[in-house]
Amino acid sequence: MKAKPFSLGRASALQPDAAAVLSGLPVAVAVLDAENRFRSVNPAAEQFLGLSAVQLDGKPLAELIAADHPIFLLIEQVRRTELSVADYDMDLEGPRFSKHGITVQGTRLAELPDAVVLVLQDASTARSLDRQLSFRGAARSVSGMAAILAHEVKNPLSGIRGAAQLLEASVGAADRDLAVLIRDEADRIRALVDRMEMFGEKPIAREAVNIHRVLEHVRRLAQTGFAAAVRFQELYDPSLPAVWGNRDQLVQVLLNLVKNATEAIVDANVEAGEITLMSGYQHGVRVALPGSGRAQQLPILVVVRDNGPGIREDIRRDLFEPFVTSRASGSGLGLALVAKIVGDHGGLIEVESRPGRTEFRLHLPMIPEGIRPPDNE
Ligand SMILES: Nc1ncnc2c1ncn2[C@@H]1O[C@H](COP(=O)(O)OP(=O)(O)OP(=O)(O)O)[C@@H](O)[C@H]1O
Ligand SMILES: [Mg+2]
Repeated sequence: MKAKPFSLGRASALQPDAAAVLSGLPVAVAVLDAENRFRSVNPAAEQFLGLSAVQLDGKPLAELIAADHPIFLLIEQVRRTELSVADYDMDLEGPRFSKHGITVQGTRLAELPDAVVLVLQDASTARSLDRQLSFRGAARSVSGMAAILAHEVKNPLSGIRGAAQLLEASVGAADRDLAVLIRDEADRIRALVDRMEMFGEKPIAREAVNIHRVLEHVRRLAQTGFAAAVRFQELYDPSLPAVWGNRDQLVQVLLNLVKNATEAIVDANVEAGEITLMSGYQHGVRVALPGSGRAQQLPILVVVRDNGPGIREDIRRDLFEPFVTSRASGSGLGLALVAKIVGDHGGLIEVESRPGRTEFRLHLPMIPEGIRPPDNE
């Protein structure tokens, strides 16, 4: 069979305009047959692989990529499960290409038996959409230091606070303000240290968590407190299964995201500031578990979106690193903690941001079979 781009032997099955759309897509799309040989490619795939459609036609994928590469596991899984499967952050090396941080998505194709469509997306393409993946390591750099700091700072701090309190009672009115200032600042450091302590490496206790109840709780906290001036919109999928996670930590994650969204809206004086909380079920998103060679399914999607001014250009790259902040009073620990908790859950966080629309997307695991879901009272 002579394969032109997107003629699958049964070209009539594809509308001509659909083929044109595929040709114009900036992401690489390739169709493999049952023996993992190229059957068709779009121009972006030709460019990605460094070979023309004619050169690729009928060529086994194993001639380009080592046969033990995880991409073959992904392809097999697509055939076996008939689901769409995605892997993030793959390294792909071949005779004419060497790409890192590639997102690979595989899907079955009805037209050809056992054919698989591969979509390969370069990190730079992904970045042009202002997407970022936060990696597990993002918060690691502080975890050891945090534990020591917390331990060494807390004791002298409580001494300072106690002394200030004594002074408050005994000094004259003029100096009382200073004593109060010392006490308040000591409290602020204490709160900071408490937050840093959470970076410690402790295994998390997991249970079946109803994520809608977590979202509701966070929304209520926000609306009665820091986000009173913001409108909330909720778009929940009521059939969503429970998340396999730690409820308190998930509250913390969502509270941080909602707080950031509120601050972005309020600081920029956005009229009609709105935060959208969304949930949904998503097939086929999974992430490789480091070291084990296994992959975990992450079917639960939770989205926090705001209509604020967007994330500042200069901090986007390091957004999830600790101490990265654009706000004078910010500690820059919020998103580092979010990344750490999501990583501990084996989950994934992505962000997409432009003026008027910033979206944090959490991909979380669902409860394993055999564990009782939470009551739905
Ligand atoms: N929804 C958002 N819209 C615009 N910018 C955001 C948003 N969320 C986060 N950011 C940017 O990311 C920075 C880092 O956020 P992070 O939560 O880590 O720290 P912070 O909010 O500055 O301080 P902290 O959370 O420790 O009080 C923020 O200072 C802000 O510039
Ligand atoms: Mg924050």
